[in-house]
Amino acid sequence: MSDEHFYNDLDATLEQVWQRLGRGVADRRSGMRTVQLASLGLDGTPRVRSVVLRGVDRAERLLRVHTDRRSPKFAEISEHPAVEICAYDPRAKVQIRARGSAALATTAAAEPAWAATQPGSRACYRVSAPPGSPLVDPTAVDPQPTPQAPADAGREHFSVVLTTVARLDWLYLAARGHRRARFDWHEGRWQGRWLVP
Ligand SMILES: Cc1cc2nc3c(=O)[nH]c(=O)nc-3n(C[C@H](O)[C@H](O)[C@H](O)COP(=O)(O)O)c2cc1C
Repeated sequence: MSDEHFYNDLDATLEQVWQRLGRGVADRRSGMRTVQLASLGLDGTPRVRSVVLRGVDRAERLLRVHTDRRSPKFAEISEHPAVEICAYDPRAKVQIRARGSAALATTAAAEPAWAATQPGSRACYRVSAPPGSPLVDPTAVDPQPTPQAPADAGREHFSVVLTTVARLDWLYLAARGHRRARFDWHEGRWQGRWLVP
């Protein structure tokens, strides 16, 4: 990939940020398909985990991921909406960190996302006990081949985490000199600046 068009150009770098995040959603092979979502634990200590990036809306500054509403992260984000999402694409040598405030949707607002969810993904939400529950027998909640579950089974556990991004941090690793830029949403527009990498 030629980097000439964005290497020393802040506006073009911001374009790259959104393009790369968008590719994470559209392309299963993108390094940004899976991202790290950090939240604040209920005891005030950090929590971070991998999640699939499911949606990007540049105009609304939104990043969307899906989770089980019974999972600890749901309670954590309900209590403290501040989150950070970190993505790294090793082929592009690009890290993007997005900081913002997350809103949780479980009811009608989550419906379009549930409708678009593949049957394989829905199976996670049918598990009878909450994610993270202790198990004596690790096979106890394995998917069963029969009987066929109703398509909407698990819907009540499905939730959408929608992060409105307020700060973006771009880091591009290049042998001739790394580039790092920060973009802050301020007075209705992105304000960018270069940072020491
Ligand atoms: C590659 C990968 C993708 C994952 N995607 C998701 C996801 O999209 N949503 C999710 O809730 N958990 C996902 N997980 C599981 C989480 O990392 C985590 O183990 C689980 O959600 C429990 O997190 P919590 O205890 O912090 O709530 C994924 C894990 C891996 C390894």
